[in-house]
Amino acid sequence: MKPFRYNTQTCVYFGRNSIRDNKEQLKPLGGKAVIVTTKFVGNVPNLALMDMEEALESLNVEYRVLDNVMTDPPVENIVKLFEELDGFWPDYIVGVGGGAALDVAKALAQFINDGAGEPYNLFFWPGKLLNNYCNMCDIPVIAVPTTAGTGSEVTGGAVLTRSDKDTKESMNMWLYPKIAFVDPRYLESSPQFLLDTGAIDALAHGIEGCLHKDANIMNRSISFAAFNLFANFKDALLEGNMTEEQFDDLSAHSFMQGVSFMQSCTTIPHGMGYPLSQHKNVPHGLACGIFLGEYLKAFKDQTLVLPLVKACGFEDTSEFADYVRKLTNRDVDIEVSMEEIEYWTDQFMEIQKWRLEANPEKLSREDILNLYRVSLQKYIR
Ligand SMILES: [Fe+2]
Repeated sequence: MKPFRYNTQTCVYFGRNSIRDNKEQLKPLGGKAVIVTTKFVGNVPNLALMDMEEALESLNVEYRVLDNVMTDPPVENIVKLFEELDGFWPDYIVGVGGGAALDVAKALAQFINDGAGEPYNLFFWPGKLLNNYCNMCDIPVIAVPTTAGTGSEVTGGAVLTRSDKDTKESMNMWLYPKIAFVDPRYLESSPQFLLDTGAIDALAHGIEGCLHKDANIMNRSISFAAFNLFANFKDALLEGNMTEEQFDDLSAHSFMQGVSFMQSCTTIPHGMGYPLSQHKNVPHGLACGIFLGEYLKAFKDQTLVLPLVKACGFEDTSEFADYVRKLTNRDVDIEVSMEEIEYWTDQFMEIQKWRLEANPEKLSREDILNLYRVSLQKYIR
């Protein structure tokens, strides 16, 4: 067997009412906490926030709630939230919400830990800490996901928007949450497109994480178990009639694929999806998902990918691609030009070269251009 690294650092409490039933785990962390969360739109109650507030109150923890987390959070958002604390120094930080809220919780913890200095130097000092998967932050982060997709509750990355470069980038330090409370109830009031984008994001994490050159027996085992969960809920997700048990599967699928792809990484579809999010405002999961089916169909050696799509409940890569296309088509309405596709292909070949090197089959510029063209056919004007 080839050598590999397997690393997980988050204790996950999975299940309905997981905060209520496991809140004692927060006791040793201290008496002061900060909750960062997003303002929920309309009259949708932030059930997870209510559960966490109740838990902290019953534990006599003094806490503040910061609910100004922005979507695609810019670095300046972290600084602003820190200023809102006005000298309140927490023992730990709780992120409640989707990927943005969890990433902001990580970034805020790191920012406070490192003395709240110049934020760009602090988050993005030159030179990456490659292969250092240890937390470098003494302020623990607790994650309570209310969406199922990014897997941020079990991953070490925090993606922030850099206003100085007009791009998104992961902060340089790895920061894994200490505890994640994963409660499927929080998904049940999600709008359909959020369920779609999350499920496809997590699916892409699993597929790409298993095909990456650093994939190993551990992450593939976890991913395959998660693919079986995907098979359980895929039809109901498409039809919009999920049962309680299927919400449980959707929720577990997401964090399991998060654990999996942290052992290797994402590859081609994630790299190809970034321009769609950046320039066409397509949600991250759908942006990657648009390429997922054609990417698998294009494998010259289908034996590499057949076991994956079969574990997800499909006969072959064509059936898989049809399913994913149905989900993305109903939620994505954009227009792209061939000039844009040519430009994105060049950008991919230049900036995302490492993704090509991590892919099991060699792909040329022509292959990437073709993947863009075929996957985006419906949207080309
Ligand atoms: Fe993703």
